[in-house]
Amino acid sequence: MTKKIYIKTFGCQMNVYDSNRMRDALMVLGYTETQKPESADIILINTCHIREKASEKLFSELGRLNQIKKKNALIVVAGCVVQADGAEILKRSPMIDIALGPQSYHELPQLVTQYNRQKGRKIVAQFPAESKFDSLPEPQKSSANAFLAIQEGCDNFCSYCVVPYTRGCEYSRSSDEIIKEAKQLVKLGAKEIMLLGQNVNCWHGDKGRDLGDLIQDIAKIRGLKRIRYTTSYPSKITQNLIQSHAKVKKLMPYIHIPIQSGSDRVLKAMNRQYTVAEYEKIVNDFRLARPDIAISSDFIVGFPGETEDDFEQTLALVERVKYASSFSFKFSTRPGTPASLMKNQIDEAVKTKRLMKLQKLLLSQQRAFNEATVGKELDVLLTERGKVRGQLLGYSPYMQGTVVRAPISKLGEIVRVKITDATATALSGKIIK
Ligand code: 5AD
Ligand code: SF4
Repeated sequence: MTKKIYIKTFGCQMNVYDSNRMRDALMVLGYTETQKPESADIILINTCHIREKASEKLFSELGRLNQIKKKNALIVVAGCVVQADGAEILKRSPMIDIALGPQSYHELPQLVTQYNRQKGRKIVAQFPAESKFDSLPEPQKSSANAFLAIQEGCDNFCSYCVVPYTRGCEYSRSSDEIIKEAKQLVKLGAKEIMLLGQNVNCWHGDKGRDLGDLIQDIAKIRGLKRIRYTTSYPSKITQNLIQSHAKVKKLMPYIHIPIQSGSDRVLKAMNRQYTVAEYEKIVNDFRLARPDIAISSDFIVGFPGETEDDFEQTLALVERVKYASSFSFKFSTRPGTPASLMKNQIDEAVKTKRLMKLQKLLLSQQRAFNEATVGKELDVLLTERGKVRGQLLGYSPYMQGTVVRAPISKLGEIVRVKITDATATALSGKIIK
């Protein structure tokens, strides 16, 4: 009987990509993926450390799995929580056999085959990223919308963020390596590739070339229909990248540019390297290059020292930009970051009140953006089954989740859809023959 692996992924798209690569590495050893943890020989939990409660999720997941797992299932915990707190989590949960930091995933096959519980549990959490990318096997499986990491880590040191500590310093893969992987994903059925990096637009894998150049090369791959990238750092966006949105048809009209706050004072305390005016100029440039582009962002409310006036400035910024979608969070103190030591922490109740107000505004903008597509025809890449039988779910060029009635045979295809309805979170429509 083939051995099975069950994977549970928390956190960002980079973690989803990493989980896929670890699955691929074990597929080479003969494992197949299962959605049923009770039948798995290996249970892999890929963790996120970005905000508080993220590590709590790991322990509640371990508790749940402990009730149902096979007696001898190997428990592997990977990801940013391991990088930050590896020894601590091994101590807290005797269930864990192997703990693996984000730069050590290539060691998983060897760790699994040589693992011996009697000889002691293992923790591997090294830097840097090169060896990982060099040693992982090529993708073995792909969905229609694939992820591809081109850059990892971060040298920006925003004062609230753990990423520089968990993912290490910035590293870019070479374009040869990236194009090879992209071709392999297309061969395995990918129609869309999302290029990933913690600062994806800082990609510098080849001398003198930037992300815009890389996108233009990837666009030449036959069979690939769509390109996206995330997540971008505002002040490092080049005109070449912006102009790629005008030039490259396969590049989707969607850009995620986290601003975090609409107050220059707060941005400075966050150690973000731009002003609100500079940010708005970038947004404007994207809109000049590609007038229909959908803009999305991340926001943090309740950063230490954020006043009512600072928060009002964030609301005003949102009113001016008009976002198609967004993610917003209450500031969360992360151990080891400068912001966690700042004296002027904001009361939890104030954070909650501000978050609710901001989310209400963002949601109303998202609804307006979605409603504006009703009556239009959009290309939708169908990526998964809908909740209702006979329905499939896909994504519009603007990243809007879109539900249509379609036979399962259409999964993985791009169909033309007339949009008939919109809510704040999704579209629905009919496939046009
Ligand atoms: N508290 C709250 N939100 C955070 N983010 C990152 N670190 C923190 C933190 N300490 C948010 C930022 C970032 C997104 C991925 O997570 O908005 O863009
Ligand atoms: Fe979470 Fe950041 Fe790690 Fe992604 S890189 S899993 S967001 S801590």
